Amino acid sequence: MPSSDWIAFWDTKHPIYVNKRHEAAHFRRIAQDIARYAPEGGHGVMLDYGCGEALAADLVAEDLARLILSEPAPNVRATLAGRFAGNSRIVVRKPEDVATMPAHSLDVIVMHSVLQYLSASDLDALLTLFYRLLKPGGLFVLGDVIPRKVSALGDALALLRFGRQEGFAGAALCGLVRTRFSSYWRLRKSVGLARYDDAEITAKLEAAGFTVERARSNIGHNNKRMTFLARTR
Ligand SMILES: C[S@@+](CC[C@H](N)C(=O)[O-])C[C@H]1O[C@@H](n2cnc3c(N)ncnc32)[C@H](O)[C@@H]1O
Repeated sequence: MPSSDWIAFWDTKHPIYVNKRHEAAHFRRIAQDIARYAPEGGHGVMLDYGCGEALAADLVAEDLARLILSEPAPNVRATLAGRFAGNSRIVVRKPEDVATMPAHSLDVIVMHSVLQYLSASDLDALLTLFYRLLKPGGLFVLGDVIPRKVSALGDALALLRFGRQEGFAGAALCGLVRTRFSSYWRLRKSVGLARYDDAEITAKLEAAGFTVERARSNIGHNNKRMTFLARTR
């Protein structure tokens, strides 16, 4: 499964965020949920891997010494660099730069809604890398894991619920129709999304050396998907 197709998709003007209100609500919610994983005391270093537009990353950075945003899509990365140029706690890095960061230099790594785009070998390589980058007792937060049984309909209903809560229900409905006829749908059907049940992803994380528990709730709006908290020893 070539993740480069998905990276190219996320680097274009895509229909996933149905309007500005949805995009803002999405990134605010993600930032609020991720911020809960910042170590106490405000001195932590966190990596958000595959962060996307990360519109509200400054919220997350408030409780950290440093927030490293890493994103492979070049246009998204350039926008991030411009957006957070004035925030001394936030740096933007390519995935290749993350691969050469010093061992045991991070307290927390978050990878939210990225797993579905990774091949099994990409995932294995990343788990090895993340284990090396985290300090002993460090935390890897793996969010938005899609179980095998959750369908596109489940995702659509979750978006409609979120739209009702955040005041973009009508736009969510139109957006779902647009998405159905977009390259997202074609990619979802042709390239596919990687899915893991609870036991499968737990076994993967444990094989990489982590101790694992499932979080009580997922990061973000879709409670059919799962978040896992994996700690280094
Ligand atoms: C659904 S978006 C999630 C963005 C953000 N984490 C969020 O939750 O809003 C998926 C992101 O994963 C990134 N991505 C896709 N394949 C990747 C890969 N192989 N390595 C790192 N990031 C990847 C995309 O560029 C995109 O920004």
